[in-house]
Amino acid sequence: ITTGGAALFWKMLRLRRRKFIEERCAELILTDEKLREVCQRLLVEINRGLNKDTNKEATVKCFPTYVRELPNGEECGKFLALDLGGTNFRVLLIDLGPHIFHMESKIFAVPQSIMLGPGTGLFDHIAECLATFMHENQVDVSPLPLGFTFSFPCSQEGLTKARLATWTKGFKCSGVEGEDVVKLLQEAIARRGDIKIDVMAVLNDTTGTLMACAWKNPACRIGLILGTGINACYVERLDNVQLWDEDHDDPKQVVINTELGAFGDNGTLEFIRTEYDRTIDQHSLNPGRQLFEKMISGMYMGEVTRLVLAQLTREGLLFDGMGPETLFEPGQFFTKYVSEIESDKKGEYTCCRQVLEELGYDDATDEDCANVRFICEAVSRRAAHIAAAAVACLLNKMGQKHVTVAVDGSLYRFHPHFHDLMVEKIRQLINPGLTFDLMLSEDGSGRGAALVAAVAVRIGGLAAR
Ligand code: GLC
Repeated sequence: ITTGGAALFWKMLRLRRRKFIEERCAELILTDEKLREVCQRLLVEINRGLNKDTNKEATVKCFPTYVRELPNGEECGKFLALDLGGTNFRVLLIDLGPHIFHMESKIFAVPQSIMLGPGTGLFDHIAECLATFMHENQVDVSPLPLGFTFSFPCSQEGLTKARLATWTKGFKCSGVEGEDVVKLLQEAIARRGDIKIDVMAVLNDTTGTLMACAWKNPACRIGLILGTGINACYVERLDNVQLWDEDHDDPKQVVINTELGAFGDNGTLEFIRTEYDRTIDQHSLNPGRQLFEKMISGMYMGEVTRLVLAQLTREGLLFDGMGPETLFEPGQFFTKYVSEIESDKKGEYTCCRQVLEELGYDDATDEDCANVRFICEAVSRRAAHIAAAAVACLLNKMGQKHVTVAVDGSLYRFHPHFHDLMVEKIRQLINPGLTFDLMLSEDGSGRGAALVAAVAVRIGGLAAR
């Protein structure tokens, strides 16, 4: 064969392989028609959650949060906040002044043994971290009001009473499901006896994110987390919330924590789930649960990508059929790798090669890198598009002319294209006449905890509990 002939042969082979890869990834690409269907089905599930008669069996629980007032920018004072449920556990000291805030915070590790151990161990650990932080910051003399961001599905019975419905993400501590987590926290603090706090509010991270953004921006009516997990809350009219049996005084609204990560747990998303999603679910801590979350969020997206990469390598379409061994080990391909690989400029593969080297593979060709990137894009695009369908569903349901969506979470913050992909898709899915914007609500879950506590103090102090 001539040199030209050989080059042509290799080019044809590369094109053929790419065509196969594209065919294998086709199931990850969702048409607008399918995304509209996702929107519609989510609306059905949300309404089932809000309805008294169907709430019991509903998968999207739509818990009323007891947060009804949004901040007006005038909240002030010193607050402690705990933030449990994301990538890190944090303790924060927040000083709210008129239109400004100052924040000290410290991250504490939560070892896996604690995440999977007895509940008392978890709450003792939280109390210990809180005590250390309070001593270090010399706020251990008189009790400070505290907001507790606990980012798991809870059925609330008041602003300071939240029963854990079920653990999600990487947690599974015994003896906590069905219990009031504020009580468990207070008992752990009492066991130590060296600090005093006044729990003013317990909230979900989505609520915190909404509040932190609403503090500056009154158009903000939705809080969205795209991090370790995915979830959204929104401001709902009281007459749409059949579960609300309290007073109907002004304001006639309440923030609803949808817990939409559980969308699909009754089989309604089977029309878009793939074999990769099923594998992830089977090997998770909570099989059959949080199926929507498992298609999108940071805890799972790297693993979805790994499964596709491993499968296509086995089929000989990538890495000449012999990729890095780590590719075949569960949990070894992190979501941050997807973000890094997609950070390369088109046609450049610096970050991609770095990631592959980290996985122990030094011989990647440009073709391999281009195909790895293509697969990462297919997985992250799917995640961004179905997250967009969820936001569009809420915007259509609310029907307000303009809504700002407060967003936080590691996936949204660190993936280079997530924001743009979502904005583009939401635009295509919302009803004519509606407008929106997505606004980063940095540190929302921590700041929001202080704000919920502060609003509680503003509208009636201890009586608000
Ligand atoms: C999980 C939790 C939910 C939380 C979300 C984001 O879906 O169940 O409460 O808001 O993760 O952290």
